[in-house]
Amino acid sequence: TRTPVNVTVTGAAGQIGYSLLFRIASGHLLGPDVPVSLRLLEITPALKAAEGTAMELDDCAFPLLRGIEITDDLKTAFDGANVALLVGAMPRKAGMERGDLLSANGGIFKPQGRAINDHAADDIRVLVVGNPANTNALIAANNAPDVPKTRFTAMTRLDHNRAVAQVAKKAGVPVTEISNLTIWGNHSATQYPDLFNARINGKSAAAVIDDQAWLEGDFIPTVAKRGAAIIEARGLSSAASAASAALNHVNTWFNGTAPGDWTSMGIVSDGSYGVPEGLVSSFPVTTKDGDYEIVQGLDVNEFSRGRIDASVAELASERDEVVKLGLI
Ligand code: NAI
Repeated sequence: TRTPVNVTVTGAAGQIGYSLLFRIASGHLLGPDVPVSLRLLEITPALKAAEGTAMELDDCAFPLLRGIEITDDLKTAFDGANVALLVGAMPRKAGMERGDLLSANGGIFKPQGRAINDHAADDIRVLVVGNPANTNALIAANNAPDVPKTRFTAMTRLDHNRAVAQVAKKAGVPVTEISNLTIWGNHSATQYPDLFNARINGKSAAAVIDDQAWLEGDFIPTVAKRGAAIIEARGLSSAASAASAALNHVNTWFNGTAPGDWTSMGIVSDGSYGVPEGLVSSFPVTTKDGDYEIVQGLDVNEFSRGRIDASVAELASERDEVVKLGLI
């Protein structure tokens, strides 16, 4: 029998946690034959709620679930962790300036980066879901000097999946016919979903749809503002789709992109496509066995260049702010 993979989930008692944990335990994170042991990190006041979720996990009698540990201690949470899903974060409250938001999250992601550095397993792989996800990943990565920076990623897969769904709907085809879609830049309203390199049934998506007004006036804002639209409709944020995207992100990272296709991941830039080295930006990547490579040589037209540059400028200013705050 295989040794279980240690999966740490932070913010486990939250909304996303409630959608995420049951699917991790049923094999949707790593595969149907990989046993997992869960470490749930929460803040002290939420430990009791996490216990409740753990009781339900027990009650599912998942064959792959080999253990659950609930803690508010960073060392216990990350000790021997192979995969870490950093979901818990400080949300933006009304009237909060960006500096306040980054500072509050620095107070979470700086010590978590340090704890991952000191206690996680050598093969640790990290997905940051908690917002501002890209910059939280930047903070964690820069506080884990002994862990390769390539192991820290931020989630833009929900944006990617949202864009796939919108294109499929517009073209009247199943989502399985959409490939090679890219989210570039920040997981924020400035993100750029790229249809010029995307394909519908193997043909250029922008050419098949041939409707620049839709692309600019409908598609891009719909994808970028989808989170707000769901809060407006449901009265609650998009937790189930976010959890699903987190599973997709990690599953694709380990099990690979399909031949000829790619996915979108927020990763530490190596300078590709003019994105300054060190920023955590979303790129088109191919994956295999827990590694990834940025897809090189894609055509970036003038429209795409402007959008990518705007989102990257936002990332650079967030980075400047966390440098100023002494977080990295
Ligand atoms: P939630 O508020 O329901 O849950 C967050 C949980 O994190 C709470 O239980 C809280 O106690 C916990 N927490 C706070 N600080 C913590 C710390 N220092 N250590 C451990 N746990 C801590 O929020 P929800 O809906 O589950 O969302 C979580 C995060 O995911 C938010 O930041 C949200 O903005 C972000 N998100 C990101 C998406 C993406 O595409 N990257 C999509 C959707 C949500």
